[in-house]
Parts: sequence; C-alpha cells; structure tokens
Amino acid sequence: MNRQVSVIGAGTMGNGIAHVFAQHGFSVNLIDVNSVQLEKALQTISKNLDKQVAKAVITEEIKKNTLANLRIVESMQEGLAGSGLVVEAATENQELKMKIFRQMDEWADKDCILATNTSSISITALAAVTTRPEWVIGMHFMNPVPVMKLVEVINGYATSPQVSKTVVTLSVELGKTPCVVKDYPGFIANRILMPMINEAIYSLHEGVAGVQEIDTIMKLGMAHPMGPLQLADFIGLDVCLSIMHVLYKGFGNPKYAPCPLLSNMVNAGKLGVKSGEGFYVYTPGSKELVVSGFTQRP
Ligand code: CAA
Repeated sequence: MNRQVSVIGAGTMGNGIAHVFAQHGFSVNLIDVNSVQLEKALQTISKNLDKQVAKAVITEEIKKNTLANLRIVESMQEGLAGSGLVVEAATENQELKMKIFRQMDEWADKDCILATNTSSISITALAAVTTRPEWVIGMHFMNPVPVMKLVEVINGYATSPQVSKTVVTLSVELGKTPCVVKDYPGFIANRILMPMINEAIYSLHEGVAGVQEIDTIMKLGMAHPMGPLQLADFIGLDVCLSIMHVLYKGFGNPKYAPCPLLSNMVNAGKLGVKSGEGFYVYTPGSKELVVSGFTQRP
C-alpha cells in the first residue's frame, strides 16, 4: 500500500485518526465539507500534539513533521485521489455513510482500501453499495484516538483476507493493537460496552444508587478509568442510544432495549460533554465533575 491516506470527517474521531496516521509518517488528506470544522480539527490536533510533547511521548520534531504531513481538503474527489486507504469517520448515520461509500467507490483509486470507523453500522451493508465489497473493512478506533491502543478490525461478509491482513499490519505500524472480529451488531466493543452503560442508566433510573455512587463503584471496584455514566457522557448519549437501537434491532432481543431515561435525556438535548450536560454538567476549562440535576427531577 502507498503511504497516502484519506480520512473523511473532521470531528473528534476523524481528527484523532488523521493525527495518528500523520504522526506515523503517512501523508494524510483530512476531508470535510465544512471548512470551519477542518480548521478547528487542525487546531485540536496541534493542541493534542502539544499534550504529547509536554508528556515526552513525542518530540517537537515529530510534532512539526506530523503537522507537515496533514492537508485539509473540502472536495472529496480531490482528497481521495492517489490514496491507498480511506477511513470514513463521518456522523454515525447509515444513510449518510451509504452515500459517502458510493462516492468513495466512484472516486477512490481501484486498489484503495475503503475502511469505516463506524461503531456499529454493518460493514457488509456499507460494502453492498460499492462495486468492490472485498475492499471494504471496519477500522474502529477508540476515543481519544492518540491515547487508546485498540483498533477493532471488522471483516465484512466479502472482505478479502489480504485487505484484512493489510489493515492489521497498518494498525501495528500506528502503535496500536488490532483485534479482528466478524460483522455482527455492535461487533465486540460495543456489544459488551453499551449494555453495561445501559444497565448503569437503568440502575440510576430505578433509584438503586446515585450517579456518583454508580461511577465510583465501577472506577474503584473494577479499575475502569471512568465510570459508565461519565463514559456515556464522553461518548455522547445520542451515540449510545443509537448503538442500543442497532443491538436491539439487530438481535431482536429485549435485553438490548434502551433505558427510557437514556431516550429522555437525548430528547431533552442532554447529550453529555458535547452539549455541556448529561449525567454531569461540564464547564469549559474545568475538570470538576458536577452531577446534573436532570436525572434527579421527578
Ligand atoms: N491526544 C493526545 N493525548 C491525550 C488526549 C488526546 N486527545 N487526551 C488525553 N491525552 C493524554 C493526556 O495528555 C494524558 O497523558 P499522561 O497519561 O501521559 O499524563 C493521558 O492522555 C490521560 O489524560 P488526562 O490526564 O487528561 O485524563 P485522564 O487520566 O482522566 O485520562 C482518558 C483521560 C484517557 C480519556 C481516560 O479517562 C480513559 O481512558 N477513559 C476511558 C476512555 C474510553 O473508554 N474510550 C473508549 C470509548 S468508546 C469508543 O471510543 C468507541 C465507540 O464506539 C463508542
């Protein structure tokens, strides 16, 4: 595979993915239709590189080279040309991703691997809208991408073994640990993580314990870096709800029914860190965790 990679979507995941590829010497085209979002992504990457320099994870030289490896592009056609791999990291919406996959199929080079960072949408369904399903694969990074070591590699129904092997090798080159799984709802990461988060929300909903108690029990008792409710806020409650819907629909099993409190919070716009409030209230510049009053109102 050549050393040029395209990343579609300049949100949190897209900028993290562009960051790690550029840091490891790949020439990266970060593509988004929104130029403001692209500029913001470059600033975020620069700030995150500063964190890594401050912690001596990388040198100033690597920071400089990483930024030099990044190009922001508004046109998808232009941004895909010449790449050996494209990682789609757009909003988690199946219709939108299908549209993007059709465009990727049309504009990416014939021997370009078409990967998606989807957290739960079927790889096989995305592959089916292209003329080259054997080149389509899931490459699921975790947030924050520069820090988290896992890449969940998801083989769709038609993914070729060679494509899977290339993505595994690439992930190792990025300093990550790849784990290969099959294409079933939620894959492995979210099939296990989301029911745990949903159960934590049910426990709160039923009044078994408060937000702080639930999170402290899982942090101190299970050595999780964040409690499940704080993690839900970090991921985004809308994302958690949409993944629960995928599990519920995909398996047809009531054990995956999303907790009504989760649905209510999403309907109320309490989406977690990104909206400023979820199970906790977030004040820019402050790391203090203040429990939201929303979940305690009758
Ligand atoms: N870029 C670079 N470095 C970063 C960073 C970023 N975006 N964010 C944090 N860091 C670094 C910090 O500099 C710090 O470095 P040191 O350990 O060397 O000091 C380190 O990461 C820890 O950061 P902080 O000190 O700010 O905060 P913390 O100790 O509380 O850790 C955390 C933050 C890494 C996010 C930690 O709380 C954690 O691991 N949380 C759980 C994250 C998790 O579960 N992610 C997966 C979510 S699920 C998902 O992504 C997939 C899905 O499909 C839903």
